[in-house]
Amino acid sequence: MKTLRIPHTELEVSRIACGCMNLSRAWDDGAITAAETRAALALVEAALEHGITLFDHADIYARGKSEQLFGEALRQMPELRSRIVLQSKCGIRLAGDPDADSPQRYDFSRGHLVRSVEGTLKRLDTDHLDLLLLHRPDPLMEPDEVARAFSQLQDSGKVLHFGVSNHSATQISLLQEHLEQPLVANQVELSLAHHQLVSDGLLFNQPGGSGAGATLDYCREYGLLLQAWSPLAGGSLSGPAADLAGEYAQARGVATEAVLLAWLLKHPAGIQPVIGTTRPERLAACCQADQVELSREEWYALLAAARGAGVP
Ligand SMILES: NC(=O)c1ccc[n+]([C@@H]2O[C@H](COP(=O)([O-])OP(=O)(O)OC[C@H]3O[C@@H](n4cnc5c(N)ncnc54)[C@H](OP(=O)(O)O)[C@@H]3O)[C@@H](O)[C@H]2O)c1
Repeated sequence: MKTLRIPHTELEVSRIACGCMNLSRAWDDGAITAAETRAALALVEAALEHGITLFDHADIYARGKSEQLFGEALRQMPELRSRIVLQSKCGIRLAGDPDADSPQRYDFSRGHLVRSVEGTLKRLDTDHLDLLLLHRPDPLMEPDEVARAFSQLQDSGKVLHFGVSNHSATQISLLQEHLEQPLVANQVELSLAHHQLVSDGLLFNQPGGSGAGATLDYCREYGLLLQAWSPLAGGSLSGPAADLAGEYAQARGVATEAVLLAWLLKHPAGIQPVIGTTRPERLAACCQADQVELSREEWYALLAAARGAGVP
């Protein structure tokens, strides 16, 4: 698996990352089962076998159980921690936290961010995160408070680097103004089924442009790694783009998933797909993308099929 350097850091990581949201799919208060533990260990082992070194978490995934399952993998493979890059996200509070009538909301207060990371470290059974991302923009964010939280987390050695997720260029720029540390990553939804960040750049000064493309350009200009969440759109891509990806895959003797991910990998921004499969076989199929080089013609044909229109 080819690697990339996360800008502004010493971290060299696989160009495909493993999303751990679904290590447990049970978003209830039930206990972790033996079957979930076996499946999580098998997935982590498959990821390592294929050269994946970055694992993506969030404090809320399965109400903490996905992080707990990964913690079990780290306990069973003690040498693993130093070989991988661990990333988690915080800032979303689920409904019912802390009171039964508390709504789902975002919370970038210093107290919540620090408490959240401490919970994550305990569940993952590690002493530090390599990267912490703010999960979704909080309209009530006080940038100075986030800055204090980040410095406290960095000074105590609990977090090495920081980034964001689902943030626009202006939201990143506002926050960055107040931080001592560079923001090094922005994790965004991006796939052939959800391609606005890429395709919007075609529509400057045209009807239908949303301005989303400016965020991709911003991340390239200031050196934030773009991570693509739901890079396979959860398996929902259908129609001409799915058919064409299937044709290209068949011609190369690889899985369709590999072509869908290769479309992201070809972009010169250095986009890192964060795959979310729970099956070792699909993970292997996804990692074939590392060997697939799409031509410019194929890349544009896939975009046109996904957009339902060629370029202007
Ligand atoms: N920052 C954010 O706001 C945010 C939001 C969502 C997710 N994430 C991160 O991104 C990661 C990936 O997200 P994701 O799970 O949506 O990614 P994904 O890789 O697009 O989708 C994976 C899911 O789709 C299913 N799937 C994929 N291809 C399929 C096909 N051809 N047919 C049927 N099912 C198919 C997989 O099922 P199998 O398990 O059966 O293979 C799995 O449930 C997460 O683990 C998480 O780390 C971040």
